[in-house]
Order: sequence, then C-alpha cells, then structure tokens
Amino acid sequence: MAELAGRAAFVTGAGSGIGRGIALVLASRGAFIWATDFNKDSAEETVALIQQSGGRGQATKLDVRDEAEWQQALAPAISHDEKLTILVNCAGTSMVTDTFSMSLEDFRRIMAVNVEGTFLGMKHGVPIIAKSGGGSVVNISSMAGLKGMAGMTAYCASKGAIRMMSKAVALECAGLRNGVRVNSVHPGFVDTPALRKHIDDATKAGHGRGLDTIEPDEVAKTAVPIGVACTSEEVGEMVAYLVSHGARHVTGAEIPIDGGMTSG
Ligand SMILES: NC(=O)c1ccc[n+]([C@@H]2O[C@H](COP(=O)([O-])OP(=O)(O)OC[C@H]3O[C@@H](n4cnc5c(N)ncnc54)[C@H](O)[C@@H]3O)[C@@H](O)[C@H]2O)c1
Repeated sequence: MAELAGRAAFVTGAGSGIGRGIALVLASRGAFIWATDFNKDSAEETVALIQQSGGRGQATKLDVRDEAEWQQALAPAISHDEKLTILVNCAGTSMVTDTFSMSLEDFRRIMAVNVEGTFLGMKHGVPIIAKSGGGSVVNISSMAGLKGMAGMTAYCASKGAIRMMSKAVALECAGLRNGVRVNSVHPGFVDTPALRKHIDDATKAGHGRGLDTIEPDEVAKTAVPIGVACTSEEVGEMVAYLVSHGARHVTGAEIPIDGGMTSG
C-alpha cells in the first residue's frame, strides 16, 4: 500500500514551484491533496497534474493572510474521508531591495504572507490534525532563515520568524502530547519561477554574481557548493520523509536542503 494512503495533506502555495512539487510528491505516495493558492487557477492546474498521474486532490482558493479564508478552506477537510494529518505552509513572497529604500508597506506585505500566513495555518490547522490523532506540519522557510542575505532584510526576518515559530509550536504540541510534530525546511536554490525572478532582481540591484544569465543551472555552478540547482520535487522528497512514520522522533528541527549553501 502507498505510504501515505488514507491521509490528507493541506498545501499552501500549491499552484507553483515548490508547493506544486510537494503536492505532486505527497500525492504520488497516496495522500489526498488539498491544493490551495491565492491564484485558484494555478491550484487547479496542480490538481490536474496530480490526477494525470493517478493521484487525488481538490483545489481551493486561499489567501494565507486572511483568517476567515483559512477557516473556510479547512472546513471541508474536517469531515473528509481521508483525515487531515499533514499541513505544509509553503506560500511565500520575497523582494530584493536594500533596507534604506524599502517602504514599510513592502516590509509588512512580506511579513503578512510569510509570517502571519504560517501562523494562521498552524493556529487553525494543528487542532484539526490533533483531532485526527496526530500528524505533521512542515513550514517552508529558507536558507535566508539561517543566514543573512544582502537586499533581503524583510525576507530574512520573515524566514527566521518561521524557523522560530516552528520550534515554539513544536514544543507546545509536545507539551500537549497531541501527536503533532512541527519542523521547518530551509531550501537554498530551487529552480522555480520565483527563483528566476529573484536572480534577475538581485543582478539588477547589484547583489548578483556578475553573470549575464538567470538560468538557475548556470548560476548554481558558482552559487551552490555542489554546483547544481535543487528541484521542487527534491524538496517534496524531504517533506515526504518529515511527514512519514520514520520521522516520528523529529520535531522542532530545521532542515537545510541547500546543496551546502549554509555550511560555510
Ligand atoms: N525557490 C527557491 O529557491 C526558494 C528558496 C528558499 C525558500 N523558498 C520558499 O519556498 C516557497 C515557495 O517558493 P517558490 O520558489 O516555489 O515560489 P513561487 O512564486 O513559484 O510559488 C509561490 C506560490 O505561493 C503563492 N502565494 C503567494 N502569496 C500567497 C498568498 N498570500 N496566499 C496564498 N498563496 C500565495 C503564489 O501564488 C505561488 O503559487 C516560498 O515560501 C519561498 O520563500 C524558495
């Protein structure tokens, strides 16, 4: 039997990049996928891809900044046959700009999606997972939650906050003995639409590597110690491990998946 059969996974930002990769990998292991994104069309495309490969899921519109939308989006998962035991907070946004010219509005926009969105997911998702008998939350942080990056003040602040919120909630759940584990994953250089935009923006802002390409595989030759870009599905494999029974003792952990970028 497929490893995640009988379980359901709620994934935010599932319409693109890493969120889509995670949704596809969890579906391939048998999980029913609640694919959510604030762009519902893109979440529907993800569900179509899941179905083409024999998996099951449903697309839902969710802007992670909106508490009422979280409650609405989670409601059908409560009574669904496959119990909700997995929550992946992946929706995120970033911007390259130096601190001294960044507007407060932009700073707050990044914090609202990355920090408040993850907080709301855990606030409303964890009690449902606990009622299902336990499970796992995986919050997608970044290497920017482990090290500083020029031109990324708000993003670093938000990803560092996700790292520490994950540990705090992991300990709350442990204290409650509710069977819910919480971990953060810290990707470094994953070939997605957002990474391509990031490389382009960083180069224009003078924080680039002096290369005249935004091709992740080319940039990775010098940017990533192992010399290659990560794929969204490889992040999905890490998430699949963290939500598995084999990771029963792993909670409050921060897991880099960055080809060595935070090792130096
Ligand atoms: N690509 C990388 O190298 C990399 C590295 C480290 C961390 N990350 C993190 O991984 C996550 C996914 O990044 P990606 O590269 O796949 O980006 P992406 O832009 O390809 O996908 C992000 C998705 O989040 C959705 N989204 C944005 N704001 C939202 C909101 N308010 N509510 C709901 N959905 C929203 C977008 O519609 C999009 O589908 C982000 O949290 C990002 O910070 C990415």
